[in-house]
Amino acid sequence: MTVDMTTRLGSLTLPNPVLTASGCAAAGRELSHYFDVSELGAVVTKSIQLRARSGRPTPRMAETPSGMLNSIGLQGPGIDAFLRDDLPWLAQHGARAVVSIAGGSTDEFVSLTRRLYGNRAVAMIEVNISCPNVEMRGEVFACDPSAAARVIGAVRRAADPHTPVFAKLTPDVTDITLIARACADAGADGLSLINTLLGLEIDVDRMAPVLGGVTGGLSGPAIRPVALRCVWQVHEALPHLPILGMGGIRTGLDALRFLLAGASAVSVGTAVFGDPDAPIRVLHELEHELAERGFVSASEAVGRAHPHHAMVRS
Ligand SMILES: Cc1cc2nc3c(=O)[nH]c(=O)nc-3n(C[C@H](O)[C@H](O)[C@H](O)COP(=O)(O)O)c2cc1C
Repeated sequence: MTVDMTTRLGSLTLPNPVLTASGCAAAGRELSHYFDVSELGAVVTKSIQLRARSGRPTPRMAETPSGMLNSIGLQGPGIDAFLRDDLPWLAQHGARAVVSIAGGSTDEFVSLTRRLYGNRAVAMIEVNISCPNVEMRGEVFACDPSAAARVIGAVRRAADPHTPVFAKLTPDVTDITLIARACADAGADGLSLINTLLGLEIDVDRMAPVLGGVTGGLSGPAIRPVALRCVWQVHEALPHLPILGMGGIRTGLDALRFLLAGASAVSVGTAVFGDPDAPIRVLHELEHELAERGFVSASEAVGRAHPHHAMVRS
């Protein structure tokens, strides 16, 4: 049996619901040595900033049980090089590009958004607000409902009306539904859930933090239950808002769990470091798992695990 794998993220229709995760596959070029990137739902690019940045002090990676800590920071080429080299490459290879943007102020987010306006290679904008606000003593935008809403509202107004704008949230808050609602009210077309959790590892020989930047973002299977909980809570609170879910997805079954919890699509991040084929494998496995359970479409599975959903359907 074939399953209709198409999915919708706001006004954007994708051929299937499996994407890469921002920061884990650069702009897709490396992955193209392993599979055809146009076969994925979309490629989500590393968060791009106005200017090239070199990131945080080394070491920037530490392995932890079932996970990984990274303090790469927002290292990258800057918007000019991205528009010149990376975005055209994705378009030439038939890949849909979800462009992730990051800034230290609302104005920076707006400037980045304007640079993307009207560019037909941009399928969607993912606004990484899980980064520090330099105008608010470094407080993370996504930890404060009004700062989050300010950025998302400004980006939505500055963006091409045809381009969906998704807000990417951090789980490091007391109530993620408050932030989700603030973003939705400000005009977000959907949410990407979740970014990494703030963590720390200690080197007992040096008796010092392992990472040069002291703290880092925790990702991988260790965070999957946290990510599923966030997707679940936000879908429960805002059932009509599309969610791009991520956090520790390694298999088609993991991806199915996210769909059932309320995600319309998923991103595969850390898994690609150990297995560059992971996104395409997850896609094929997901299709198989859906077929095995008698689903005729992926969208039919979205939110299916919620009690109210079961009631509506029966
Ligand atoms: C090395 C690394 C770099 C990342 N860089 C970004 C980034 O630039 N922007 C962003 O929004 N998220 C970034 N993330 C977070 C991932 O996109 C994803 O939200 C998170 O890692 C959870 O998914 P995973 O467990 O499948 O990796 C990064 C994650 C890792 C591991």
